[in-house]
Amino acid sequence: MRLDRFLSNFPEFSRLDARLLLAAGRVRVDGQSVTDGRFEVREFNRVELDDRLLQAGKAARYFMLHKPSGHVSATEHPEHPTVLDLLNEPDKHELHLGGRLDLTTTGLLLITNDGLWSRRLTLPGSKQPKVYYVETEQPIGAEYADTFASGLYFAYEDLTTLPAQLEILGTRSARLTLHEGRYHQVKRMFGHFRNRVVRLHRERIGPLTLDPHLQPGDYRPLTAEEVAYF
Ligand code: URA
Repeated sequence: MRLDRFLSNFPEFSRLDARLLLAAGRVRVDGQSVTDGRFEVREFNRVELDDRLLQAGKAARYFMLHKPSGHVSATEHPEHPTVLDLLNEPDKHELHLGGRLDLTTTGLLLITNDGLWSRRLTLPGSKQPKVYYVETEQPIGAEYADTFASGLYFAYEDLTTLPAQLEILGTRSARLTLHEGRYHQVKRMFGHFRNRVVRLHRERIGPLTLDPHLQPGDYRPLTAEEVAYF
């Protein structure tokens, strides 16, 4: 919400009061005086007027989880345990997922209470590369790499996937880098060759790599530097 509206929502301040308080430099956000009424106040900001606290500001929370197989990427599910069940944190209802992985997929999953941050991660235009380790039922052909680099047509969405990079690691294993996140994308890409994915693990999103110290089911808060990646 704009800072001028935030102020005038208090019954004791009219719109004019709000403007005058701002112009006089009496309003501070996170300790800094702000005079521009267009400043967007978030629930995470501490807002003060002189010595009076108007909003304490919630802590913004960011976690990386090593998602294990068998936990569903949702906040509630009638049948399976959810990834949120793995977190020992207060006010879990305020948390949401920054992206999803299929039930049996393992690896890097981000969880936060900051909707703007997670939107930046998940917007189709964000194009943060997502890196997956893949194991398949059948041998992976050398021709897959060119097909994935040219893009595959997905009839259901009527779109062609963005160029993806395939690095073949072994007869049935590879590392695949995607620049978007379509529904079951990796499985559908290998499905084009009638090759079933039997193991799928997300190693990295953009510059953020899954912490190797995290066992499946473990999680940790992101560092301030990691939060600033997105
Ligand atoms: N692609 C898939 O098919 N599944 C995932 O969980 C992630 C990407």
